[in-house]
Amino acid sequence: MKTIGILTGGGDCPGLNGVIRAVVRSGVQQGYRTIGIRNGWQGLIEGEVEPLTDFSVSGIISRGGTILGTSRTDPLKNPADFERIKNTMKKFAIDALVVVGGNGTLTAAHEVATRGIPLVGVPKTIDNDIPETDMTIGFDTAVSIVTGAIDRLHTTAESHHRIMVVEVMGRQVGWIALKAGIAGGADEILIPEVHFTMDDVCNNLKARYTAGKKFSIVVIAEGTPLEDIRDHSVPESDLDECGHEKFVGVGNLLGRELERRLGIETRVTNLGHVQRGGTPTAFDRVLATRFGVAAVDQIRMGNFGTMVALQRAHVVTVPLSSIAHRLKQVEPELYAVAKTTMGGRR
Ligand code: F6P
Repeated sequence: MKTIGILTGGGDCPGLNGVIRAVVRSGVQQGYRTIGIRNGWQGLIEGEVEPLTDFSVSGIISRGGTILGTSRTDPLKNPADFERIKNTMKKFAIDALVVVGGNGTLTAAHEVATRGIPLVGVPKTIDNDIPETDMTIGFDTAVSIVTGAIDRLHTTAESHHRIMVVEVMGRQVGWIALKAGIAGGADEILIPEVHFTMDDVCNNLKARYTAGKKFSIVVIAEGTPLEDIRDHSVPESDLDECGHEKFVGVGNLLGRELERRLGIETRVTNLGHVQRGGTPTAFDRVLATRFGVAAVDQIRMGNFGTMVALQRAHVVTVPLSSIAHRLKQVEPELYAVAKTTMGGRR
C-alpha cells in the first residue's frame, strides 16, 4: 500500500482540518494510507509523525486550527535538514507529500519539489495572497469574522459620534480589509495596493461630517504604509524567523493622527489573531474538502510539483513555479466598487 504524508505549515487558519480529513478519506477510498507530519516542515526534519485513519479524522471538519500543529520552519535553510527530510520519508515509506501552506510554505514546497521530492501543494492563508487561485482556505472565515466585528463597531461608533479605526491582517495585501470593508459598509478602506495621503482621508471623513454623518468606520490593512505620518523613532519593522515583516500597529498611528487633525474622538480596534481562530465557514469547509480530494487525485496521477487551485468555481492544478515568490494583490475593479459605495465622498 502506498503512503501519503500530509503537513500544514505557516500561520494556521480555519479550514486546515477539513483538508486533512479529505486527504485521509479520499486516500482510504483510493488505497493509500496517510501519515500526519507534526508541526510543518519541522516534523519532517525531526521525524515526528502520526498515523491518520478514517476514525481519527472524525469530527474535525468543524474545528479551527490544525490537529497536526504548524511552524514556520524553512526546510532548506540548512542543507543537513534536507537530508533529514529524505530520511524521514524513507523511514516511514512516505511516497508523496501533501503540503498545505501559504506563500512561505508553498515557495519552499516548490524548491523541495525541484530537488526530487514528489508533492502537491494546497493553498491556505487568511490573507488570500497566493496567485493563480481565486480563494485560499481560511480567507472566507477571516472576512466573515471581520465583517461581524465591523457591524458591532458600527453601533457604538454611531452612539458616541466617533471614528472607529479597525486594523486587520493581510501582510502586504489588502484582501481582508477590502472584502470585509465592503461587506461591513466601511467609510474608508486603506490598503497597501492603493496610494493615499492623510489629507485625502481627512477630507473624505470631513465631507461625511459636513453631510451630517457624525461617525465613521475606517478599515486599515496592517501592511499599509503611512508614509506621511510614520513616527520614525519607532523601528519600522522587525522580521520574523521566515524573514516576514512584523507589523508595528498602523491602526494606532492612524487613529492618533485622525484625532489630532480632525478633532473627532477616535478609537482603535486591532482584531489580531481573532481573525484566524475558531470554526471555519461552510465555504471554507467545502473548499478544504474539494482541495483535499483533488490533491489525492493529483498524487494518484503522479502530477507532482503542482498546487490545487480554485479558478472560476472549478478546482484546477497549476505548477508551483507559477506561484513561488509571488503575491496576489487586490483587483483594482474591486477597489473601485468599494470606492463607489464608501459614504460621504464628493
Ligand atoms: O499570513 C497570515 C497572518 O495571519 C498574517 O495576516 C499576519 O501578518 C501574520 O500571519 C501573523 O503571524 P504570526 O502568527 O506569526 O503572528
